[in-house]
Amino acid sequence: MTVPPLIVAPSILAADFARLADEVRAIEHAADWLHVDVMDNHFVPNLTIGLPVVQSLRAATELPFDVHLMIEDPRRWAPGYADAGAYNVTFHVEACDDPVALAKDLRSAGAKAGLAIDRDTPIEPYLELLPSFDTLLIMTIKAGFGGQRFLPQLLEKVRTARRHAAAGHLELRIEVDGGIADDTIAQAAEAGADAFVAGTAVYGADDPAEAVRRLRGLAERATTGA
Ligand code: DX5
Ligand code: ZN
Repeated sequence: MTVPPLIVAPSILAADFARLADEVRAIEHAADWLHVDVMDNHFVPNLTIGLPVVQSLRAATELPFDVHLMIEDPRRWAPGYADAGAYNVTFHVEACDDPVALAKDLRSAGAKAGLAIDRDTPIEPYLELLPSFDTLLIMTIKAGFGGQRFLPQLLEKVRTARRHAAAGHLELRIEVDGGIADDTIAQAAEAGADAFVAGTAVYGADDPAEAVRRLRGLAERATTGA
Protein backbone atom coordinates (compact mmCIF):
# COMPACT_ATOMS: atom_id res chain seq x y z
CA MET A 1 0.00 0.00 0.00
CA THR A 2 1.38 3.41 -0.88
CA VAL A 3 1.45 5.98 1.85
CA PRO A 4 -0.39 9.18 0.88
CA PRO A 5 1.87 12.19 1.32
CA LEU A 6 -0.82 14.28 2.97
CA ILE A 7 -3.77 13.20 5.04
CA VAL A 8 -6.99 15.19 5.32
CA ALA A 9 -9.17 13.94 8.16
CA PRO A 10 -12.62 15.50 8.51
CA SER A 11 -13.83 15.55 12.10
CA ILE A 12 -17.35 14.27 12.60
CA LEU A 13 -17.61 16.44 15.69
CA ALA A 14 -18.93 19.13 13.34
CA ALA A 15 -21.29 16.75 11.51
CA ASP A 16 -25.00 16.20 12.14
CA PHE A 17 -25.01 13.39 14.72
CA ALA A 18 -28.53 12.36 13.72
CA ARG A 19 -27.26 11.55 10.21
CA LEU A 20 -23.76 10.30 10.94
CA ALA A 21 -23.53 7.58 8.28
CA ASP A 22 -24.72 9.99 5.55
CA GLU A 23 -22.34 12.67 6.76
CA VAL A 24 -19.44 10.22 6.52
CA ARG A 25 -20.46 9.08 3.05
CA ALA A 26 -20.50 12.71 1.94
CA ILE A 27 -16.70 12.88 2.34
CA GLU A 28 -15.85 9.21 1.80
CA HIS A 29 -14.22 9.66 -1.63
CA ALA A 30 -12.47 12.91 -0.87
CA ALA A 31 -10.98 12.26 2.58
CA ASP A 32 -8.14 10.01 3.74
CA TRP A 33 -9.16 9.35 7.33
CA LEU A 34 -12.26 9.97 9.39
CA HIS A 35 -11.39 11.80 12.60
CA VAL A 36 -13.51 10.64 15.53
CA ASP A 37 -13.38 12.79 18.67
CA VAL A 38 -14.13 10.82 21.81
CA MET A 39 -14.65 13.04 24.90
CA ASP A 40 -15.57 11.83 28.36
CA ASN A 41 -16.64 14.96 30.27
CA HIS A 42 -13.64 14.45 32.60
CA PHE A 43 -10.45 14.94 30.63
CA VAL A 44 -12.31 17.68 28.76
CA PRO A 45 -15.61 19.29 29.85
CA ASN A 46 -17.39 18.16 26.69
CA LEU A 47 -19.05 14.79 26.10
CA THR A 48 -19.34 13.20 22.66
CA ILE A 49 -19.46 9.61 21.50
CA GLY A 50 -17.89 6.33 22.56
CA LEU A 51 -17.24 2.79 21.50
CA PRO A 52 -20.77 1.69 20.48
CA VAL A 53 -21.03 4.54 17.98
CA VAL A 54 -17.59 3.81 16.60
CA GLN A 55 -18.49 0.14 16.22
CA SER A 56 -21.71 0.95 14.33
CA LEU A 57 -20.01 3.53 12.15
CA ARG A 58 -17.18 1.11 11.33
CA ALA A 59 -19.67 -0.96 9.35
CA ALA A 60 -20.95 2.08 7.43
CA THR A 61 -17.76 3.20 5.65
CA GLU A 62 -14.45 2.02 4.24
CA LEU A 63 -12.57 5.10 5.49
CA PRO A 64 -9.80 4.46 8.03
CA PHE A 65 -10.77 5.76 11.48
CA ASP A 66 -8.50 8.20 13.24
CA VAL A 67 -9.77 8.03 16.81
CA HIS A 68 -8.80 10.96 19.03
CA LEU A 69 -9.38 10.04 22.65
CA MET A 70 -9.83 13.03 24.93
CA ILE A 71 -10.48 10.85 27.95
CA GLU A 72 -9.03 9.94 31.30
CA ASP A 73 -7.58 6.49 31.87
CA PRO A 74 -6.82 5.72 28.20
CA ARG A 75 -5.01 2.50 29.19
CA ARG A 76 -8.39 1.11 30.13
CA TRP A 77 -10.33 2.22 27.05
CA ALA A 78 -7.99 2.77 24.11
CA PRO A 79 -7.37 -0.87 23.14
CA GLY A 80 -11.14 -1.34 22.68
CA TYR A 81 -11.03 1.15 19.81
CA ALA A 82 -8.20 -0.77 18.18
CA ASP A 83 -10.22 -3.96 18.56
CA ALA A 84 -13.19 -2.17 16.96
CA GLY A 85 -11.07 -1.66 13.83
CA ALA A 86 -9.71 1.86 14.26
CA TYR A 87 -6.74 2.50 11.98
CA ASN A 88 -5.08 4.93 14.36
CA VAL A 89 -5.80 5.46 18.05
CA THR A 90 -4.47 8.65 19.62
CA PHE A 91 -4.54 9.37 23.34
CA HIS A 92 -3.40 12.41 25.32
CA VAL A 93 -0.03 12.41 27.03
CA GLU A 94 -1.58 14.48 29.85
CA ALA A 95 -3.90 11.57 30.68
CA CYS A 96 -1.43 8.69 30.63
CA ASP A 97 1.37 7.76 33.02
CA ASP A 98 2.96 5.19 30.70
CA PRO A 99 2.45 6.29 27.08
CA VAL A 100 5.02 3.88 25.67
CA ALA A 101 3.30 0.86 27.25
CA LEU A 102 -0.05 1.92 25.82
CA ALA A 103 1.49 2.52 22.39
CA LYS A 104 2.77 -1.06 22.50
CA ASP A 105 -0.68 -2.36 23.45
CA LEU A 106 -2.28 -0.45 20.58
CA ARG A 107 0.23 -1.73 18.07
CA SER A 108 -0.25 -5.30 19.25
CA ALA A 109 -3.98 -4.83 18.86
CA GLY A 110 -3.33 -3.96 15.21
CA ALA A 111 -3.68 -0.17 15.28
CA LYS A 112 -1.30 2.68 14.74
CA ALA A 113 -0.44 4.47 17.97
CA GLY A 114 -0.88 8.21 18.34
CA LEU A 115 0.25 10.65 21.03
CA ALA A 116 -1.65 13.91 21.47
CA ILE A 117 -0.23 17.09 22.99
CA ASP A 118 -2.70 19.67 24.26
CA ARG A 119 -2.35 23.44 23.98
CA ASP A 120 -0.54 24.04 27.27
CA THR A 121 1.80 21.03 27.15
CA PRO A 122 5.34 21.48 25.87
CA ILE A 123 6.64 18.99 23.33
CA GLU A 124 10.28 18.74 24.42
CA PRO A 125 9.84 16.26 27.33
CA TYR A 126 8.12 13.81 24.98
CA LEU A 127 10.39 13.88 21.95
CA GLU A 128 12.24 10.81 23.14
CA LEU A 129 8.98 8.80 23.19
CA LEU A 130 8.29 9.36 19.51
CA PRO A 131 9.95 6.20 18.15
CA SER A 132 7.16 4.27 19.90
CA PHE A 133 4.48 6.19 17.99
CA ASP A 134 3.17 6.37 14.43
CA THR A 135 1.27 9.62 14.86
CA LEU A 136 1.87 12.78 16.84
CA LEU A 137 -1.20 14.97 17.18
CA ILE A 138 -0.41 18.55 18.07
CA MET A 139 -3.45 20.53 19.16
CA THR A 140 -3.69 23.95 17.55
CA ILE A 141 -6.44 24.90 20.01
CA LYS A 142 -7.29 23.78 23.56
CA ALA A 143 -8.83 20.31 23.25
CA GLY A 144 -12.53 20.01 23.98
CA PHE A 145 -14.61 21.89 21.45
CA GLY A 146 -14.80 22.41 17.71
CA GLY A 147 -15.07 25.82 16.10
CA GLN A 148 -12.28 27.52 18.05
CA ARG A 149 -9.76 29.96 16.65
CA PHE A 150 -6.48 28.49 15.36
CA LEU A 151 -3.46 29.37 17.53
CA PRO A 152 -0.49 29.85 15.16
CA GLN A 153 2.07 30.01 17.99
CA LEU A 154 1.47 26.29 18.61
CA LEU A 155 3.04 25.50 15.24
CA GLU A 156 6.40 25.96 16.92
CA LYS A 157 5.80 22.51 18.43
CA VAL A 158 5.18 21.11 14.96
CA ARG A 159 8.49 22.57 13.77
CA THR A 160 10.34 21.12 16.75
CA ALA A 161 8.77 17.69 16.29
CA ARG A 162 9.40 17.65 12.54
CA ARG A 163 13.06 18.57 13.02
CA HIS A 164 13.41 15.85 15.65
CA ALA A 165 11.70 13.24 13.45
CA ALA A 166 13.88 14.13 10.48
CA ALA A 167 17.08 13.99 12.53
CA GLY A 168 16.15 10.59 13.91
CA HIS A 169 14.78 9.27 10.59
CA LEU A 170 11.47 8.57 12.30
CA GLU A 171 8.47 7.63 10.22
CA LEU A 172 6.03 9.89 11.98
CA ARG A 173 2.79 11.49 10.89
CA ILE A 174 2.47 14.91 12.45
CA GLU A 175 -1.18 15.84 12.69
CA VAL A 176 -2.66 19.21 13.56
CA ASP A 177 -6.11 19.56 15.05
CA GLY A 178 -8.11 22.71 15.72
CA GLY A 179 -9.05 25.66 13.56
CA ILE A 180 -7.66 24.12 10.38
CA ALA A 181 -9.33 25.90 7.46
CA ASP A 182 -8.57 27.52 4.10
CA ASP A 183 -6.72 30.39 5.76
CA THR A 184 -4.63 28.32 8.22
CA ILE A 185 -3.76 24.98 6.59
CA ALA A 186 -0.84 26.31 4.52
CA GLN A 187 1.08 27.56 7.56
CA ALA A 188 0.54 24.22 9.32
CA ALA A 189 1.84 22.36 6.26
CA GLU A 190 4.86 24.66 6.01
CA ALA A 191 5.62 24.01 9.68
CA GLY A 192 5.87 20.29 8.92
CA ALA A 193 2.42 18.83 9.54
CA ASP A 194 1.33 16.13 7.11
CA ALA A 195 -2.09 15.25 8.51
CA PHE A 196 -4.84 17.82 8.92
CA VAL A 197 -8.02 17.49 10.96
CA ALA A 198 -10.85 19.79 9.94
CA GLY A 199 -14.30 19.86 11.48
CA THR A 200 -16.03 23.18 10.93
CA ALA A 201 -14.16 23.88 7.68
CA VAL A 202 -15.54 20.65 6.20
CA TYR A 203 -18.97 20.15 7.70
CA GLY A 204 -19.76 23.86 7.87
CA ALA A 205 -19.26 24.04 4.10
CA ASP A 206 -22.09 23.71 1.57
CA ASP A 207 -20.16 20.92 -0.15
CA PRO A 208 -18.05 19.00 2.41
CA ALA A 209 -16.25 16.87 -0.21
CA GLU A 210 -15.26 19.96 -2.16
CA ALA A 211 -14.01 21.57 1.07
CA VAL A 212 -11.77 18.53 1.68
CA ARG A 213 -10.35 18.75 -1.84
CA ARG A 214 -9.71 22.46 -1.48
CA LEU A 215 -7.92 21.97 1.84
CA ARG A 216 -5.75 19.24 0.33
CA GLY A 217 -4.83 21.49 -2.60
CA LEU A 218 -3.83 24.32 -0.27
CA ALA A 219 -1.66 22.00 1.85
CA GLU A 220 -0.03 20.50 -1.25
CA ARG A 221 0.75 23.88 -2.71
CA ALA A 222 2.27 25.00 0.57
CA THR A 223 4.67 22.04 0.69
CA THR A 224 5.56 21.65 -2.99
CA GLY A 225 5.39 25.28 -3.98
CA ALA A 226 3.19 24.17 -6.92
C1 DX5 B 1 -11.52 19.43 19.44
C2 DX5 B 1 -11.32 18.29 18.49
C3 DX5 B 1 -11.23 18.63 17.06
C4 DX5 B 1 -12.39 19.41 16.50
C5 DX5 B 1 -11.81 20.38 15.53
O1 DX5 B 1 -10.98 19.15 20.67
O2 DX5 B 1 -10.18 17.52 18.81
O3 DX5 B 1 -10.99 17.48 16.28
O4 DX5 B 1 -13.34 18.64 15.83
O5 DX5 B 1 -12.80 21.21 15.09
P1 DX5 B 1 -12.52 22.51 14.20
O6 DX5 B 1 -11.91 21.98 12.92
O7 DX5 B 1 -13.85 23.09 14.02
O8 DX5 B 1 -11.56 23.35 14.95
ZN1 ZN C 1 -9.72 15.88 17.40
